[in-house]
Amino acid sequence: TVPRRPRRPREAPAPVPGPPVQAGSDWTTWSTYDAAELGFRNHWYPAVWAHEVGRKPVPVTICGEKVVLVRDDRTGRIQGLHDRCPHRGVPLSLGRRQFPGTISCPYHGWTYDLEDGRLCAVITDGPDSPISGKVSVATYPVEERLGLVFVYIGELGEDGTAPPVEKDIPAELTENTLVLGGRNEIRDGNWRFAAENGFDEGHAKYLHNTALWRLFKVMPTWNRTRIVERDGWLIRVQDEVHWEADFPGVGSFSNKRWWKRMPLPDRPGKNGNANPVIAALDLPGFVSIRLPGILRVAYPQFIHYEWYVPVDADHVRYVQLMVRFETGLRAAAFKAKYLAAIRWLFHGQFTAQDAWMVDVMDSPPERLYRPDLSLTAWRKHIEDSDVVVQAVAGRGH
Ligand code: FES
Repeated sequence: TVPRRPRRPREAPAPVPGPPVQAGSDWTTWSTYDAAELGFRNHWYPAVWAHEVGRKPVPVTICGEKVVLVRDDRTGRIQGLHDRCPHRGVPLSLGRRQFPGTISCPYHGWTYDLEDGRLCAVITDGPDSPISGKVSVATYPVEERLGLVFVYIGELGEDGTAPPVEKDIPAELTENTLVLGGRNEIRDGNWRFAAENGFDEGHAKYLHNTALWRLFKVMPTWNRTRIVERDGWLIRVQDEVHWEADFPGVGSFSNKRWWKRMPLPDRPGKNGNANPVIAALDLPGFVSIRLPGILRVAYPQFIHYEWYVPVDADHVRYVQLMVRFETGLRAAAFKAKYLAAIRWLFHGQFTAQDAWMVDVMDSPPERLYRPDLSLTAWRKHIEDSDVVVQAVAGRGH
């Protein structure tokens, strides 16, 4: 046989130079925001729907922290524990419910009291186990509101309690009777991209051009928008400026129709006057955002909310709520309409387009344009706020 000629080692391809990174196109201007990959501590975050938590433990991850939610059969309350057995690190969410008010790790049967996380029995070490009572698993404050389980991530006050959950829920939702429909799912992408997408004015009329929801609602374009801050909310305010751009083959891009139907509470919508609760909010613009990542889109008759809950660096819990401040027949009619159409049209197909962008975008570096004012205002708001960034494990932020 002919000996094979030794192959010439291939030369490594010359590195392809990437595009030059422009000054300011990274996130060094927003150092707090840049570090907030896992969100902020000392806030309440919605997790799963309350009806999903029963005897069976439910694992959730919020701001990178693993929590097991379980309903205490003694009190009916949902309790939250760190989802990690201190013995050898097995998730307690895989555990058994053998004694009232406790959860037992599936590995060696260490059993924890749901209320205070104390190790109260060690099944495999006998009734006189010397370690019993000497170990605890961390507990998390938990509250049920709006049909959701809210979990507090952060430090407790000197009195050992968390701030009231109402601090992190828009006041109109806790102070009024309402009916809601919603979706709660984990999507790909970091929570900051999801939050920015919600407040990003430049994408609404373009990305969502093919959304069926647009048959019912007009989308705004950026229109010399100003951002004002009120009660912790950043509100996008548009002045009445019309512009029109014709793109042959694409069509005309204009804000005229939007202005005609501008859904501000002081302008009656096509279904009549604004709901009194929404009118009382007296919002100068219809889209607003606040910490720790809550979007509010207020139409005259209903409000759409989005929570962007950090899960880990690459996943966000996306909680969408459509709310009407109604009772009786009108509330029932809304609920039926939500289940028949809105849940699919708006909370499904429309926001799936957002999820697509949040998943595929790769930023920074970035090169911003005028409509990105909403993004930079949000980032600046965070830099100026008294926030505590959640540490990324092993990174020493
Ligand atoms: Fe949990 Fe051993 S790892 S009891």
